[in-house]
Amino acid sequence: AIDISKLRDQSGYITLDSGFKNTGATKSAITFLDGERGILKYRGYPIEELAEKASFLEVAYLLIYGELPTQEQVDKFQYQISRHTLVHEDMKKFFDGFPSKSHPMGQLSSLVCSLSAFYPESLDPNPSKEDQELTIIKLLAKMTTIVSWIYKKSLGHPVNYPQNKLDYVTNFMSMTFSYITEDYEVDPIVIDAMNKLLILHADHEQNCSTSTVRIVGSSDCNLYASISAGISALWGPLHGGANQAVIEMLEKIKNDGGDVDKWVAKAKDKNDPFRLMGFGHRVYKNFDPRAKIIKKACDDILAKLGIDDPVLEIAKKLEEVALNDPYFIERKLYPNVDFYSGIIYRALGFPTEMFTVLFALGRLPGWVAQWKEMKENKEPIGRPRQVYTGETNRSFVALKDRK
Ligand code: ACO
Repeated sequence: AIDISKLRDQSGYITLDSGFKNTGATKSAITFLDGERGILKYRGYPIEELAEKASFLEVAYLLIYGELPTQEQVDKFQYQISRHTLVHEDMKKFFDGFPSKSHPMGQLSSLVCSLSAFYPESLDPNPSKEDQELTIIKLLAKMTTIVSWIYKKSLGHPVNYPQNKLDYVTNFMSMTFSYITEDYEVDPIVIDAMNKLLILHADHEQNCSTSTVRIVGSSDCNLYASISAGISALWGPLHGGANQAVIEMLEKIKNDGGDVDKWVAKAKDKNDPFRLMGFGHRVYKNFDPRAKIIKKACDDILAKLGIDDPVLEIAKKLEEVALNDPYFIERKLYPNVDFYSGIIYRALGFPTEMFTVLFALGRLPGWVAQWKEMKENKEPIGRPRQVYTGETNRSFVALKDRK
């Protein structure tokens, strides 16, 4: 790769690469992705192995600090997080202020940004190592409470407080699905599935939301605001919002009689804006390795929970038709991470509008790790150039003389 930034001020040329299809924005030692061969590794560990053997918190530690934690380190990490799961009581007023039908992603982005108001030590552009660590811990801890409370408020139910004796994922599920009158029964199958899903979403190098986090952070903006910007970027249906869009699409196909050929034809029609949601990826030109794992997990979990979801059948048929169609073959369009994840979230009891929020919960350690790396590498402020195509040299016309 050529480091074109070194040519600055020498050439006078601007490289134009719409959508950054071939432009590296940074060097990074966090996640390795080979899109041609369908390989994904966090810090050198294959995603398949991490999803099978690690807990989400171990993976979060690995991404943020570079090494898998020892038992002692992961216990300390869990302990520190547990001590910070409460959100300020005044934040409850924000939750109360949102209309009950407002989208959870809009709420999440605002609530995460508002943490900067409660923890002003995060505003220091050059924080001490201790303060930066504390901000990271607080964010990881409070995110579960915020996500859980967004869900509870959407139902009009009272919120549950976090329980420090529980591990990260169990605490989150318990806060989310317990009722005042009934404790959430922890099913290890569900906790295992949730751990897996969060791990698979934990990082994905310089995607739209991660690049957003890095570029916002490069202005020395605080961590909460940088992550809030990443959450907004993730919301779009071409990115993380695809998991919601996939289920909505599968439901539509089912309610329309389940004729998948018709919908594949629609997706190929260049005069029709419809795309097969959950298909295609900027970098993967092969199977998304996360989709492979999720597809299998989806079968396992539905079987173990005894759930028969008709949209899973539609999804499988759609995949089969698309993967054998020359249009999809030529363009190397394969199912991505979002194609099957929603079916699992649904089986675990989450409503469709919460899916992208769960993606954000999983992606959080990746965003944090990338933000931290950007700061440690002392990267310059992100500031893309442009090729100007507008008018040149016009003379001002007074208002009264304009036609
Ligand atoms: N359905 C039908 N055609 C598609 C699809 C699709 N899902 N995805 C891409 N194509 C076609 C395009 O129309 C284009 O065809 P053309 O060469 O005839 O013009 C070709 O494949 C290349 O597509 P681009 O849009 O140029 O690819 P790009 O890398 O810019 O976009 C993206 C990638 C946004 C993911 C795209 O594939 C898409 O819109 N997919 C559906 C949304 C989705 O699932 N997003 C989640 C991605 S994973 C994630 O962010 C977590």
